[in-house]
Amino acid sequence: MCKLPAMQSSELKRAAARAALDEIVVGAVLGVGSGSTVDLFVDELAALASPPAALVCASERTAARARANGLRVVELNEVLASGASIPVYVDGADEIDPQLRMIKGGGAALTREKIVASASGHFVCIVDASKCVEQLGAFPLPVEVVPMARELVAQRLRALGGEPRLRESGLTDNGNEILDVHGLDLARPEQVEARIEQWPGVVAAGLFAAHGADIAIIAAREGIVRRKATGARG
Ligand code: A5P
Repeated sequence: MCKLPAMQSSELKRAAARAALDEIVVGAVLGVGSGSTVDLFVDELAALASPPAALVCASERTAARARANGLRVVELNEVLASGASIPVYVDGADEIDPQLRMIKGGGAALTREKIVASASGHFVCIVDASKCVEQLGAFPLPVEVVPMARELVAQRLRALGGEPRLRESGLTDNGNEILDVHGLDLARPEQVEARIEQWPGVVAAGLFAAHGADIAIIAAREGIVRRKATGARG
């Protein structure tokens, strides 16, 4: 563990972001997620002598930040159609457990984050230590829904024991709505993820359990910890 001086939350996020630079594959396209930690990571990328060839971004917010920093942004379809690969994906999380399963979507980018992560090789999760939990679920689970299916999905979430609340801050980049689900039992997050995502009208659940992170870079006041996923993943 490398020791850090006393730091605020934003400084811890920057420390995690900076530590993730070691995970980048030089000369390759890089996948990046969304959120305040990713914003800091994008700023760090721009300061590199050899920044990534291009970025595939999981939100309009990240893409705008990357362009403003002079970084090249490309569409996922373009990268895949060219036959190129995305060896690494870097993103934050709202909660992460010891198996590196996560809740994501606090910034409403969960669907594109799942898509870009799925198209990429290693998932590197960058967080400050406040995001680490023993069991997922204190953070309300974001679920992206097609607007006409909102009430249908909400009824099913209630039947599952959750209390869905419509996020009032606007639509996602995909033009959909977010239900933030409080009080769900996430002792078996893979099962809950699979169940919710099979309902018509659900675009994605903000559970990254079947496919969690491969590496977590956790910045705590005591220093940086790198945690690797163990065991087989679904
Ligand atoms: C975006 O939709 C989220 O999945 C973010 O990755 C998550 O909310 C972490 O955001 P911060 O880095 O802002 O804490």
